[in-house]
Amino acid sequence: MSTLTERVTATLRDIPDFPATGVVFKDITPVLADGQLFADVLGDMAQRWRGQVDVVTGIEARGFVFGAALALELGTGFVPIRKAGKLPGPTVALSYDLEYGSATIEVHDDSFHPGQRVLVVDDVLATGGTAEAACRLVEQLGATVVAFETLVELAFLHGRDRLTGRDVRTLVVVD
Ligand code: PRP
Ligand code: HPA
Repeated sequence: MSTLTERVTATLRDIPDFPATGVVFKDITPVLADGQLFADVLGDMAQRWRGQVDVVTGIEARGFVFGAALALELGTGFVPIRKAGKLPGPTVALSYDLEYGSATIEVHDDSFHPGQRVLVVDDVLATGGTAEAACRLVEQLGATVVAFETLVELAFLHGRDRLTGRDVRTLVVVD
């Protein structure tokens, strides 16, 4: 009987030279396509945080898939953190470097409140720039980051080094 980690590891797909030459992209879409595996992943994430968070936030785009589903499982609301220029209301924004390029993310400035316990969710932790920026946006609005939860950590990119002191939880570590 394989573990959930083994099942996810076996289902991820390597795409060489995407989105740039020399990058081996870990494609998570086969995990989403497997209904039983997707449900088991969400169940695993939910049992860890049930009763411990007031709201879930996820980062565009793949963080929406896991974050929104997890919010439903936990019975909380969901806050989208989006790429720049997509949100209609007043926002706070942060820019950061990526493995391949740079990005700016933002969130509505009334999304989080002091005292709120927030779970930050994404599909992949790579260099950690996105996760760090998302956590800082939450804290900039006075709320507390309970943890960063993700499906896959690309450990060779040392994303955890940018999240020192934070609770970082992943199902699969790729060395
Ligand atoms: C990917 C991934 C994370 C981020 C991880 O998103 O979904 O959000 O990169 O990289 P980092 O740890 O180096 O910051 P991407 O920007 O490719 O957007 P997408 O979800 O819209 O495909
Ligand atoms: N796979 C998926 N998302 C990513 C990757 C990857 O290899 N690197 C940065 N974001």
